[in-house]
Amino acid sequence: MPDESHFATAPELVPVPDDYAPYSRTSLKQYQERYRRSIEEPDAFWTEELRRLDWIKTPTEISNVNWDPDNLSIEWFADGVLNVSYNCIDRHLDQRGNDVALIWEGDNPGLHSAITYRQLHNHVCRMANELKKIGVTKGDRVTLYMPMIPEALYAMLACTRIGAVHSVVFGGFSPDSLAGRIKDCESEFVITADQGVRGNKPIPLKENVDRAIEIAGGVKAVLCVRHTGADIGWVEGRDFWHHELTLQVDANCPPEPMNAEDPLFILYTSGSTGKPKGVLHTTGGYLLWAAMTFDTVFEVERGEVFWCTADIGWVTGHTYLTYGPLANGVTTLVFEGIPTYPKADRFWEVCDKHKVNVLYTAPTALRALMREGDALVEAHDLSSLRLLGSVGEPINPEAWAWYHRVVGKGKCPIVDTWWQTETGGCMITPLPGAHDLKPGAASKPMYGIEPALVDGEGHFIEGEGELTGNLVIKRSWPGQMRTVYGDHKRFAETYFSTYRGLYFTGDGARRDADHYWWITGRVDDVLNVSGHRLGTAEIESALVEHVDVAEAAVVGYPHDIKGQGVYCYVTLNAGVEPTAEMEAELKAHVRKEIGPVATPDVIQFAPALPKTRSGKIMRRILRKIAENQLDALGDTSTLAEPGVVDDLVANRPQG
Ligand code: WTA
Repeated sequence: MPDESHFATAPELVPVPDDYAPYSRTSLKQYQERYRRSIEEPDAFWTEELRRLDWIKTPTEISNVNWDPDNLSIEWFADGVLNVSYNCIDRHLDQRGNDVALIWEGDNPGLHSAITYRQLHNHVCRMANELKKIGVTKGDRVTLYMPMIPEALYAMLACTRIGAVHSVVFGGFSPDSLAGRIKDCESEFVITADQGVRGNKPIPLKENVDRAIEIAGGVKAVLCVRHTGADIGWVEGRDFWHHELTLQVDANCPPEPMNAEDPLFILYTSGSTGKPKGVLHTTGGYLLWAAMTFDTVFEVERGEVFWCTADIGWVTGHTYLTYGPLANGVTTLVFEGIPTYPKADRFWEVCDKHKVNVLYTAPTALRALMREGDALVEAHDLSSLRLLGSVGEPINPEAWAWYHRVVGKGKCPIVDTWWQTETGGCMITPLPGAHDLKPGAASKPMYGIEPALVDGEGHFIEGEGELTGNLVIKRSWPGQMRTVYGDHKRFAETYFSTYRGLYFTGDGARRDADHYWWITGRVDDVLNVSGHRLGTAEIESALVEHVDVAEAAVVGYPHDIKGQGVYCYVTLNAGVEPTAEMEAELKAHVRKEIGPVATPDVIQFAPALPKTRSGKIMRRILRKIAENQLDALGDTSTLAEPGVVDDLVANRPQG
């Protein structure tokens, strides 16, 4: 999907709508001036920006960065001291204590609640004291495996209050995946709930945690939130009910002073090789980046409602569901359910019910809802919406136009925000009110961000007119990840060695003649399936763990709803029949090993895979076959056995 042809419907320029003028805080001129200052006078720029946060000790050092892969070190605001939960809660209490901090909308449309900043303070302090009671201390890693309920945010904030490092694992990952993540960061504590519910279906969270702990070992205590009230297994002495402990602890917990470079959280994400990496973000730089980008991109005012539909298991749920809105003292909406339950108009119903002002969602959800027809949207008022956002994958012009016309009634700008788990927050995005929009373009760099394009050899592609290449970033920014947890070498190799001294994003991009940036998609072996990042290597290793599989290669292919689908080439062991049952079994196997997000869409049984004479699988060819671009297979003369390709083409599953 993410190739140039995807944007072939030549995009027109959509001017900033007049309706947006009353909300706009930044004009084009102001953006240009601030951007210039952020690049030319970074110390002065960041010294001003620091004031967005309340510091226990205001930093005097701005940045100290070395991107040389052999001496890689990144520090921002290194002598600053602050606490994240204080910045997200306590400092708002005087002025905004009775403002709503979070609105919760249950999977069941009959369930919702509103929590003020004062209530949030109470809940977070109590949970922080519960964590202390079960033995958590500063620097400990705490794994969260939670449904989308207010307690999930309390848990994140409670960790930050006492200086523990949270690692949120998406509730859709399997016990095996959860175990791998618990083990990798040697997490001795888990916070979970009895069950989650999505689309009226229960998700056995506690049961999965129990299985994960059996696999991983080393977990001392589990704090469990009672959500559905289902019967669950219980290990006396290890498991603790939140609703019981909360009655035994104080409603005050002093925020722990943290150094700006102390670890804040770990979030596992897929790369092109190996197991998922523990992306580590630190306290001061991340929070400032979250606070600044949230405020700059979404311009949310006191009293407005911001709805980010991402799950807290992904980085968007960290930065724009939790930390960005709360650091700015506004209202964030937490939705437990799915867009299609009870009906495919749930998003629009929720927007009206809670008078949502800004909606931030993913193209995959838009494509699925677009298919349900306009009438479902038009049955709702939606007049509270003033701004729309998109994140997670390139948005195709059809989905963009539908979002703009049908959902936004032509009056809401769309901010198409490009960023990554690694970048902490938005990197390239239009600012509403400042930039005319081009459907499909991530548009303009955020303050402090210097994007550039390089060719395969690492030479800069420069000049006027249209340019295409691999997207790199030329200088550090506060929200940048600091390391791969426990594997600094991998951090250096993955991001700073391909093009020495530059941060390599893994994405391809185009800069047009107006200097608008267009992200064309991953250029490495990372898939983007329904906005979820998956490594082909992870899926391949899950497949080859099956006793009947000899070899597997996984590639992406264009998928109407998911953006990319998972296409697996599988060579079975000699004597095993490639039957429909085997296909179903392998799909179920991957679901079990990794989680439903990784379920293969297509399995093609292959007697052999195309390899070079040195034994390297030729993925380029496999991608073309999966994409059904059979006349673009290119040079196959370097293959060890060219006949292998003919067989794959002849037996390509139709559809
Ligand atoms: C892709 C999600 C095009 C990109 C915040 C990136 C996008 C990967 C966009 C990161 C966008 C994200 N336009 N592509 N607006 N936003 N991507 O770490 O390929 O889950 O490298 O972070 O998603 O995915 P991640």
